Amino acid sequence: MSQEYWEHRYQTNDMRWEKGAPSPGLVDFLAAHPELPRTRVCVPGCGTGHDARAFAAAGFDTRGFDIAPSGVKLATEKTRTAGLAAQFQRADFLRDQPPMPFDWLFEHTLFCAIQPAERDDYVRALLRWLKPDGQYLAVNYLITDTDGPPFGTTREEIWQRFSPHFDLLAEWVPRSYPNRTGLELMFWWRRKAA
Ligand SMILES: C[S@@+](CC[C@H](N)C(=O)[O-])C[C@H]1O[C@@H](n2cnc3c(N)ncnc32)[C@H](O)[C@@H]1O
Repeated sequence: MSQEYWEHRYQTNDMRWEKGAPSPGLVDFLAAHPELPRTRVCVPGCGTGHDARAFAAAGFDTRGFDIAPSGVKLATEKTRTAGLAAQFQRADFLRDQPPMPFDWLFEHTLFCAIQPAERDDYVRALLRWLKPDGQYLAVNYLITDTDGPPFGTTREEIWQRFSPHFDLLAEWVPRSYPNRTGLELMFWWRRKAA
């Protein structure tokens, strides 16, 4: 979907994904892993920045990116109000070069927001934005919809796309927003040595 499409969704307040809080699965992951080094994390398709602020509050050097200028503006304003240090900028994750390499990349409703035909581009972008030993933490939305966004996926597709490039460290059913309970799976991947 284009920048114009997503910007229009913000301009018309058609933001059905907006829950006013970070992914519960991410909140639980961060609370469960105080031992992780607080390195640099990328949150592509960050929307209004709830997940990025959760990483920043946990001490990570956090950068959020969104194709829609209004998403970046809202995320920046909310983060300033919260007194947190996450930074945001406009970028097309699928097509742009990363401004810097990242230790972590967090996926939450970007994979399901792009056209399914762009999923090969998504995997290429992930490998471009992550450091060679980077880690990929994903909350995947396992719905069956074909008339998205959101567009559905399956565990089989996730495995087929990511396992050639990443070792799976863990997989679990996370705590979810009430209307997504039972529809999410989390995957913690570490990039394979080249
Ligand atoms: C369904 S929303 C999810 C927002 C946020 N992750 C959340 O869960 O609240 C998808 C977001 O991805 C952004 N987006 C879509 N395509 C993108 C792309 N190619 N690069 C960066 N952001 C993109 C949209 O503007 C929108 O903010």
